[in-house]
Formats: sequence, structure tokens, C-alpha cells
Amino acid sequence: MSVTESPFQADTCPELKEVEATIRMSLQTQSSGLQEMIVHLLQAGGKKLRPLLVLLCAGLSGGEMYSIKRVELLRVAAAVEMIHTASLVHDDIIDGAASRRGRETLHFRWDTKKAVLAGDFLLARAFDLLCGLEQKGSLLPLFARSVALMCQGEIRQLAGNYCWETSEKNYFHFNYLKTAQFLASCCEAGATVMKAGEGEIKNLRRYGFYLGQAFQIVDDILDYTADPVKLGKPVGKDLRQGTVTLPLIYLLRVDHRYRHLLRAASTRRPALAAHLQEQVDRAVRASGALQYASRRAARAGEAAINALQRFPPTRSRQLLKQIAEAIAGRVAFVKGQQ
Ligand code: FPP
Ligand code: MG
Repeated sequence: MSVTESPFQADTCPELKEVEATIRMSLQTQSSGLQEMIVHLLQAGGKKLRPLLVLLCAGLSGGEMYSIKRVELLRVAAAVEMIHTASLVHDDIIDGAASRRGRETLHFRWDTKKAVLAGDFLLARAFDLLCGLEQKGSLLPLFARSVALMCQGEIRQLAGNYCWETSEKNYFHFNYLKTAQFLASCCEAGATVMKAGEGEIKNLRRYGFYLGQAFQIVDDILDYTADPVKLGKPVGKDLRQGTVTLPLIYLLRVDHRYRHLLRAASTRRPALAAHLQEQVDRAVRASGALQYASRRAARAGEAAINALQRFPPTRSRQLLKQIAEAIAGRVAFVKGQQ
């Protein structure tokens, strides 16, 4: 299994096929140029983690209500995947990345202007889906806030590029803004549709938050370790672009020589010199930074699982637990490496 494939798809949640159909319907357009880009994106698939969280969290707190709220849930699940895809289209422009999910990115295949507009279109149609919901009074502000936080996370991360003093606290703040809070909102949305109580919503947000935290740490580790073909996107870009993530923070804490070296080179924007990148990359691997980061991801995964404890032991709870284990397991191979 490649790292882009989901270990928890169709057999876990047959509704995902219907989520895909809802997305396809919502993205129909008369504009053939736009439609071509949408088809390109949809053919890439993706893990569908966020829709799965909506559906499973609804299953966990909904019981028999689930079938009554099914259509509403499919719409929410489709909307969160569309928001996520829009964010990736824009993120790839920001990163200048040529591939995503094993395919060319929109801005690379078409151009940046068209890719920006395709991302905007996805976002508009996602909010259009949310506008048609019975629970729109809660879900529209939830996702409007969540997208605003993602934007703030990206801006803060950009502003922090080449700041080799970035602290772990700062890293976990970006991690929250960019990723963890959105996953927490997906969990909250599923529970909200089921009219779950405050306590249940709080626990599911906690699950989504820690799951998201683990997910982003793993993503940041894979940027150092993965095979780009298997990952479906370029690797090494964080270090090259001066983005300071958990493995690098660890190295710079335990070995101050690299902090001095990088500080001296920080004027070489927009990309780090290749020889320096190689040197720091080797040091990250040799320092135990990847093992450290993978322990932090495992700890977050355990915290996510703990948040599920108060729920009855249903199939949905079991699947949410398996998702947390599978996410931490994406870096299992790192553990034995030096
Ligand atoms: C991928 O993470 C990117 C994100 C988690 C968030 C991107 C958010 C925005 C661009 C702002 C919101 C925009 C819209 C349209 C909703 P990464 O860059 O760490 O991972 P990567 O390796 O996949 O690039
Ligand atoms: Mg990125």
C-alpha cells in the first residue's frame, strides 16, 4: 500500500461512494475549462479522511437517527472534502509544487490564474452545499471560522519561513491552525447533525484535534523520508523552502552548529542552497529527530484514542480508533531507522 492510499476506505464506510457522487454533482458547471480541471482533480481520488470523520462521528453519536440524517450527512461529508481539496489547490500554488495525489497540480498543468479560480470555485460550491443544510445555523459559522484559521495558519507559516529559532510551541500552533482544528471541526459537524450533547461534541473535537495533530506531524516526517512517487507529491520541500517543522526543530535544539550554519545562509531565499539542504537533511536523519517526531505523533494518536473512551464500544468507535492507529502507523518504518 502506498502512503497516499487510504487504509480505511470502501469496506470501512460504503457511504464514501455516495459522498463522491455528491461531490461530482455539486461541482457540475457549464464552463468546459473549469470542468476539465475538476475532472482532473476528481480522478486523483484522495484518502477522504475528512468525510470519513464526519460520517463516523455521526455514527458514534447518532444511533438510529443516522439513517434519517443520511442525506444531510452526505452533503456535509462532500463539503468538507471540497474545502480540503480547495485548500490543497491553493497550497500547491503557494509551495510551487508540481504534483499532488500522484498527478500534476492544476497550476502546473494549466496555469496559476486558472488554478486560483478553480480553488475558489470548489470553496464556493462547498459553502453552497452547507447553505442547503437544516443545521446551516451551526455549520456555516463552524466552517467559515475553520477556513479563516487555515488561512491564518498558512500566512503565519509563510512569515515564519527561514526563522530557525521557531519553537516547538510555535510549530504546534501552525499545526493546529493548518490541520488539527479543521479535523476537529469535521468531527464536530458529524456530531452536530446528530444533535449530540455538548459533552459528546467536546470529546469528538478532542479526538479530531489530536488526530489532526498526529496527521500533520506524520506529513512533516514524510517530507523528509518518503519516496515522492509513493507519496504522490514532492518531498524535501519544507527544508528547501525554509519551513521549520518538528524534525528540524529537534535537530536545531540538540545541535546548535546547524542553527549557526542556517542562520548564515538565511539570505539565500527563495530556496536553500542544495549542498546546505543535503547537509541538514543528513543531520536530521542522524540526530534521532525523525524518531522523536514519530513518538510525538504516536502520543497524539493515543490521546485521540483516549478521547473516544466515554463512547459505547460500537463499530464506529472501533473504526475511529483504527484510523488513529493507521495514521501513526504511516511512519512505522521510521522507528527502526537511525
Ligand atoms: C497542506 O499542508 C495544506 C494545508 C493543511 C492547509 C492549506 C490552507 C490554505 C492554502 C488556506 C485555506 C484555503 C482554502 C481555499 C480553503 P502542508 O503544506 O503541510 O502539506 P503538503 O506537503 O501536502 O504541502
Ligand atoms: Mg504545502
